[in-house]
Amino acid sequence: MGTENATGEFKLVGFSKFVRTNPKSDRFGVRRFHHVEFWCGDATNTARRFSWGLGMPLVAKSDLSTGNQIHASYLLRSGDLRFLFTAPYSPSIAATAAANQTPNSSSAAIPTFDRDAFLSFSAAHGLAVRAIAIEVDDAELAYATSVAHGAKPSSPPIFLENRVVIAEIHLYGDVVLRYVSHKTPNFSSSDDEFLPGFEPVPESFPLDFGIRRLDHAVGNVPELGPAVSYVKGFTGFHEFAEFTAEDVGTSESGLNSVVLANNDDSVLIPMNEPVYGTKRKSQIQTYLEHNEGAGVQHLALTSEDIFRTLREMRRRSGIGGFEFMPSPPPTYYKNLRNRAADVLTEEQMKECEDLGILVDKDDQGTLLQIFTKPIGDRPTIFIEIIQRVGCMMKDEEGRSYQKGGCGGFGKGNFSELFKSIEEYEKTLEAKQTVDSATV
Ligand SMILES: [Fe+2]
Repeated sequence: MGTENATGEFKLVGFSKFVRTNPKSDRFGVRRFHHVEFWCGDATNTARRFSWGLGMPLVAKSDLSTGNQIHASYLLRSGDLRFLFTAPYSPSIAATAAANQTPNSSSAAIPTFDRDAFLSFSAAHGLAVRAIAIEVDDAELAYATSVAHGAKPSSPPIFLENRVVIAEIHLYGDVVLRYVSHKTPNFSSSDDEFLPGFEPVPESFPLDFGIRRLDHAVGNVPELGPAVSYVKGFTGFHEFAEFTAEDVGTSESGLNSVVLANNDDSVLIPMNEPVYGTKRKSQIQTYLEHNEGAGVQHLALTSEDIFRTLREMRRRSGIGGFEFMPSPPPTYYKNLRNRAADVLTEEQMKECEDLGILVDKDDQGTLLQIFTKPIGDRPTIFIEIIQRVGCMMKDEEGRSYQKGGCGGFGKGNFSELFKSIEEYEKTLEAKQTVDSATV
């Protein structure tokens, strides 16, 4: 695993030398991802596009119609995955309300929302993730512990109707890590209420492509060492995996990566840094330029049936949904039959090929994955759809669950993709030679 030398500087050891250990070192109780908040210029339209493209119905809102004069926020939900879209209202609306001393003068449902921060965020990044929210046992304690261990505070704990506490820490760039905890004993985040101040929206149209939860939220940073040390330092999270450009057998990937995880590996927050001096510019460097700094690179969403999810998403690609990266060449799937025949049936491998799904394995299980193209104007944030196969465990009460990170993060696909593209190009070259010989 990565080590810190005498000066406290973090050093990558690479995938082959990395030894996975779980010291259960969380500094405070961390349960699971709670939601992801995007800041956008117009929340109505952005939320509807994601709803249509990902099969996530609108389930709650906080806007002018509910008495919120500060920001419009719309919540989409599919299983345990929650996406929140927020945009500001004119400051004159809230100012007028305050002058008239109406009871809603401070009506923001997300009280950490800050118009000035929004304006500079939006100008610098375009459509981007502002907050990765995690449910913790006690947000006040999580905040105090984090700050005591070097975290840069963004917002101290705020009570929402005495039932929910939220607090925010700077994670990287302009992204915050938001702690959410419920005062109600035995409250489960799978319960229907999102946050006080939000009103439920009745279902108008059944929409579900099988997406169930957030698996990992990846950040791109200019320098991995300080970013990893910082986040590890205040959370106590451990290193779940790491890989370097050399590990993946090609310098083309242009990135180094470290995955940080909480005690039960349910909150996975990988970070990437660019590698310089390669033939092609690192994709991470491209991101950092277009995003004007560090930020969330991709969100990996777990599907309970990736084939169904992909069929539904691909049907909508050209009509307001999300487009996907080009599918690998046929040689990739020919090689796949040697790599994955023990896990996937012939029919499933055929379906992977039809839908352009990539397959990777680690020492524990299998990962099916596919990436969208960047989802907004800039070549920055994108979405990954995954399904993990294997690693089923039983908890103390005999309920089965899947081990976090089962099947890895797709490291093997870097080299498999490059290999298959090379092989494919050779078949094209061979074909050209045959064709020119026959002319
Ligand atoms: Fe990923």
